[in-house]
Amino acid sequence: MSKKLYIKTYGCQMNVYDSNRMEDVLRPLGYATSDADGNTSANTPENADLVILNTCHIREKAAEKVYSDIGRIRILKERRQAEGKEMILVVAGCVAQAEGAEIMRRAPAVDIVLGPQTYHRLPELLEKARAERARGRAPRVMDTEFPAEPKFDALPAETRSRGPAAFLTIQEGCDKFCTFCVVPYTRGAEFSRRVEEIEAEARRLVAGGAAEITLLGQNVNAYHGLDESGKTVGLGRLIRRVAAIEGLQRIRYTTSHPLDVDQELADVHADVAECMPYVHLPVQSGSDNILRAMNRRHGIDDYCRAVDMLRRARADLALSSDFIVGFPGESDTDFEATMRLVREVGFSQAYSFKYSPRPGTPAAAMENQVPEEAKAERLAELQAELNRQQLAFNEASVGRQMPVLFERAGREAGQISGRSPYMQAVHVIATAADAADSTIRGENKARGNGNPDGVAPAYTGAYTANITGVANFTGVAVAEIISAGPNSLQGRLL
Ligand code: SAH
Ligand code: SF4
Ligand code: F3S
Repeated sequence: MSKKLYIKTYGCQMNVYDSNRMEDVLRPLGYATSDADGNTSANTPENADLVILNTCHIREKAAEKVYSDIGRIRILKERRQAEGKEMILVVAGCVAQAEGAEIMRRAPAVDIVLGPQTYHRLPELLEKARAERARGRAPRVMDTEFPAEPKFDALPAETRSRGPAAFLTIQEGCDKFCTFCVVPYTRGAEFSRRVEEIEAEARRLVAGGAAEITLLGQNVNAYHGLDESGKTVGLGRLIRRVAAIEGLQRIRYTTSHPLDVDQELADVHADVAECMPYVHLPVQSGSDNILRAMNRRHGIDDYCRAVDMLRRARADLALSSDFIVGFPGESDTDFEATMRLVREVGFSQAYSFKYSPRPGTPAAAMENQVPEEAKAERLAELQAELNRQQLAFNEASVGRQMPVLFERAGREAGQISGRSPYMQAVHVIATAADAADSTIRGENKARGNGNPDGVAPAYTGAYTANITGVANFTGVAVAEIISAGPNSLQGRLL
């Protein structure tokens, strides 16, 4: 009988990828996150033999949540132990890396602490924890090293389908050291995986049903991996290689740094049909003074140049970004510059945060911290503008026809939900016959890959669909957009 595994994932997509990979590592030991029918909701922290919290350290709130979750799980663990059942509690991810020793001190219920670069060692660490327990001691196992051998070499091949939209980490870590950010400390130095290794993993994901792959990295466009001839290739070249995989219909990549946008990458948006017309390109602030204090290594001019390069390659490109308000020293004038930049560039969606001082980062020690009220006011003003732009972008989609990758059943009866090429959430009500018909015709209709005027080249990949009733429909089908809200579009299948 399989042992029950429950993983809670906080933070970014790379953590989602890591959680999936931890599952792969644990499967040979008999652990599964789902029951025999593949039902993942069957596993809860209450009945789990092994609980993993895969944590995020990016902002204070994210890190605090981990401690309150540990507190909750401690009670469940004690209850299980009283019933003579085992539970092992693992804290993984970026909080573990940054505050491993403190977690051990503050939270005796935690058995194992491990960082983002050591989870391939989970089997040995579990072994150690069990041995400790067998001796009647509380296990206190910790591994937050940055091993010289990358974990990717030690990870087993993925063994489970990741569904229609899958993540694939191609690059990890960061050498840029923005003064507000913990990532260079929690994830370590920049590292790029080899091209062949990525290609092989992408092929397995496609064989497992992935129609879309999102290539991941903290600085994904700083990718510089070796190909089989020993040559270093950039992200643009890598995307071309992955796009050539039979059956793969869509490629995305995230997160990009403005300084690492080059012509080779922009060209991919012009002539690789699988590459979706959406780029997440964080700018953080619209003020050169603040960007300098952030050690972003780029100015507003550089950012606008990168945006132009991408938009020249693909006129309909949708752009998203990250913003921090209230960075130390940010004046009203600096903030006004951010608002101006937002109005000038125009975003289809964006994430914005109040600056959160992180222990050990240079900005946390800066003297001119911005008061909480000013942060809150600025965030509200910025978000109002970003929301306005997002709604306008969505409303402009009404009446258009676009290929949508349907990933799951929606909340309403007969509803299926997915993403437009521009990352908008799209919901349609469909019958199984509608879905089948639309998918078959999709290949002709979708010429232009999200661009109804057919400017960009057509998809090369075949449309795949898996129809056993509407609720199980996944795949690309063409929808006409009939209405738009701030966060999603409603459409009907064609
Ligand atoms: N590598 C990406 C971002 C990684 S972190 C890049 O270079 O842009 C994701 C986002 O979290 C950042 O873009 C930033 O907007 C936000 N963030 C990071 N540290 C933060 C902090 N200390 N306070 C508030 N927001 C922060
Ligand atoms: Fe953090 Fe800056 Fe690196 Fe992005 S580029 S991960 S914000 S240090
Ligand atoms: Fe958070 Fe670590 Fe990702 S700090 S955002 S989980 S890299």
